[in-house]
Amino acid sequence: MNRRKFIQNTSKAGSLLILPSGISQISNSTNPNFTKTDFGKDFKWGVATASYQIEGAWDEDGKGPSIWDTFTQNTNRIKDGSTGNVACDFYHSYKSDIQLVKDLNFDVFRFSISWSRIFPEGTGQVNQKGLDFYHRVIDHCLEIGVEPWPTIYHWDLPQALEDRGGWVNRDIISWFEDYSSEVTRAFGDKTKKWMVMNEAASFCGAGYLGGFHAPGKRGFKKFYDAAHHANMCQSGGARVIRNEVQDAIVGTTISCSWIDPIDQKEKNILAAKKLDAFLNRLYLDPIVGRGYPTDAGKFFEKIAERVPDSDYEKLKFDFDFMGVQNYSRTVAKKAFYIPVVKAFQVPPKKRGVPEDQITEMGWEVAPDGFYKILKQLGEYKEIKRMIVTENGCAFPDKVEGNSVHDPRRVQFFKDYLGNMLKAKNEGVKIDGYFVWTLLDNFEWAEGYEPRFGLVHVDFNTQKRIIKDSGLFFKELLEE
Ligand code: GAL
Repeated sequence: MNRRKFIQNTSKAGSLLILPSGISQISNSTNPNFTKTDFGKDFKWGVATASYQIEGAWDEDGKGPSIWDTFTQNTNRIKDGSTGNVACDFYHSYKSDIQLVKDLNFDVFRFSISWSRIFPEGTGQVNQKGLDFYHRVIDHCLEIGVEPWPTIYHWDLPQALEDRGGWVNRDIISWFEDYSSEVTRAFGDKTKKWMVMNEAASFCGAGYLGGFHAPGKRGFKKFYDAAHHANMCQSGGARVIRNEVQDAIVGTTISCSWIDPIDQKEKNILAAKKLDAFLNRLYLDPIVGRGYPTDAGKFFEKIAERVPDSDYEKLKFDFDFMGVQNYSRTVAKKAFYIPVVKAFQVPPKKRGVPEDQITEMGWEVAPDGFYKILKQLGEYKEIKRMIVTENGCAFPDKVEGNSVHDPRRVQFFKDYLGNMLKAKNEGVKIDGYFVWTLLDNFEWAEGYEPRFGLVHVDFNTQKRIIKDSGLFFKELLEE
């Protein structure tokens, strides 16, 4: 049986859990030069997850298809040919998986809500069983003393809405508002910490410009509109949360990367500025009231030209916190053949970065870049507080008995946490840090190969094994 079929056939395999007590000590680990106390007693420690990447149960209990169901099932654009049909089967194993969050001593479980579980058609009729599932997740968190932090949207748009143009159709602003109202009304009494959206840069760039993520669309016009509508929904969704949830703490999440020019030539310094606008500022500046980054060139002027003046006031929102997500740094070089932006990211291998400093995603391990981007964002006076809502790495793992020794991942966390602490001690207002991610899971177009989890998942049996990196956090966060 091929891997794809097998994965689809393991639905409902209950998760087998290996508890920390059954696990050998962390190998190869030296003590970090910080302790939990250094981050402050109110600092939030969490893990982040996303519905499509872990839930499975893709058509259960009335759920409608999302663009990721369509993209994985009907195209051959996933590296290993897999789907999220079963993924980690979190839909059925949520109790034991959330228990892992607790066992590893984290305070927060960040998860996302699948829009098409709630509205199978994207709008209109609500699916009560979809709401019930997230009630169960939230209730379980509260019962065992883990804080549930929902994200309203993490890339799995209902297919029915994509059929009407998806993020390119301006109507999405009202569709998103209705969906946000429904979920905040349903869960707002139980949970107060909300994030509107996950990384608009990624789903607009990869889904509507590059075409390598769902829905697989390409084209600048589509991209301009998708990006602007996503920004309108970041602030529109935030307003809904503020109105519907009493005492809400409202955030959204942005992907960000420190950008270095490949050298000090003027053209490459300009390339770095353009990539900074493209990767970092395009989804942040408008929502904090700075407008689009038109100082970075024509490309951004073109987006701005398409925006009705009356949208600018609506784009702005006074977020309680900005969710910051970082994995690596970017090195920029001018490239005349890249349309419009005229800049590209030079891959680490081409820059001579040693193999052991490159993750399975092909990303450079760059803790110093993490420090620098936190400092860069710290310069935004409009950002009141920050929470690192994702940070992590994928390295190949080997199961040895009931252990997974992953020293490179442990080292990654020590180095990134050390750099975050440095930025924090220098005055950047960082209130929390969430690891990407709890479980190895469906890594979008990369399928199941890259493993980001603190907990190893065998996708044939659904058995979980806590990795040394999980134990590293367990020890660090012990009271
Ligand atoms: C983020 C994304 C996550 C996860 C991670 C690792 O951009 O929000 O869903 O896939 O990257 O690639």
